[in-house]
Amino acid sequence: MPKNMHSLRLNRLLPPCLIDRSDYKTIDWEKDGKTILRKISMIERCLPVKSVIDFGGMWEVDGLYSRVCSERFRIARVTMVDKYVSENWMRNPSVRNGIDFRRGDFSDDEFMSTLEEPYDLALAYDVLPHQMDLMHTLNLMLSKTRKFFLISQPILPDKTMPFRNSLVLLSGSKAYSLIPFREKWAEETGYWANFSDATITDTSHWLWGMTPSFIESIMKSSGWEPVYEEFWRGWLPKSSKWRICGLIFKKR
Ligand SMILES: C[S@@+](CC[C@H](N)C(=O)[O-])C[C@H]1O[C@@H](n2cnc3c(N)ncnc32)[C@H](O)[C@@H]1O
Repeated sequence: MPKNMHSLRLNRLLPPCLIDRSDYKTIDWEKDGKTILRKISMIERCLPVKSVIDFGGMWEVDGLYSRVCSERFRIARVTMVDKYVSENWMRNPSVRNGIDFRRGDFSDDEFMSTLEEPYDLALAYDVLPHQMDLMHTLNLMLSKTRKFFLISQPILPDKTMPFRNSLVLLSGSKAYSLIPFREKWAEETGYWANFSDATITDTSHWLWGMTPSFIESIMKSSGWEPVYEEFWRGWLPKSSKWRICGLIFKKR
């Protein structure tokens, strides 16, 4: 997309008079602007809705998608769940505007039972690849969602994998050629070594690689139909293997 088109879209979806982009110091707008725009326009496709839950909306974005839901799209009930709280979130009240933040683990049944009323729309943006018990956690997330479930994350395109419906645990040397971040972090002390030696309980150093067909199958089996999909390159360094997906599912 040409640069001025990009900033026009950014201004339309994130009007500077409503949301000051300089509030989000950890966001690299140059690198991630395109992905951020796509994630926001997926939300726009589901409007009007009255409530939204943003699962894992904190790291590096400090609740930006929740705030857009509240201030730009005027969604009345906006809840964000994350087990992590950023410094900026604590320090800067404007990033918290209109958001009901619940600190907790959305893979935990007890915590999830504290969320009473379900939501029209759920965001699962870059969170599923990190869930140890993926199916259990996804079912918990779906149980809190009434109409639309949005997934955006790195995926392994079906054509690059030997089978459809693939789910691969990426950790250790056997997954070497698939691990997406090696080039990016190889220079950082110990990162690659940690990734290679990760144990199954160390979710900061492994992730699930999924094909879109896998995501579609598990969603369909839980009663959710795909209504929209798009794929883009994003910033992923191993771009011959990976794409970023934007998938919208609607409850049957
Ligand atoms: C990679 S970041 C994604 C941030 C944002 N959603 C985005 O699209 O850029 C993952 C976030 O999800 C949170 N997270 C992952 N699993 C979680 C869980 N089971 N319960 C609560 N938070 C979780 C992490 O703390 C982190 O803030």
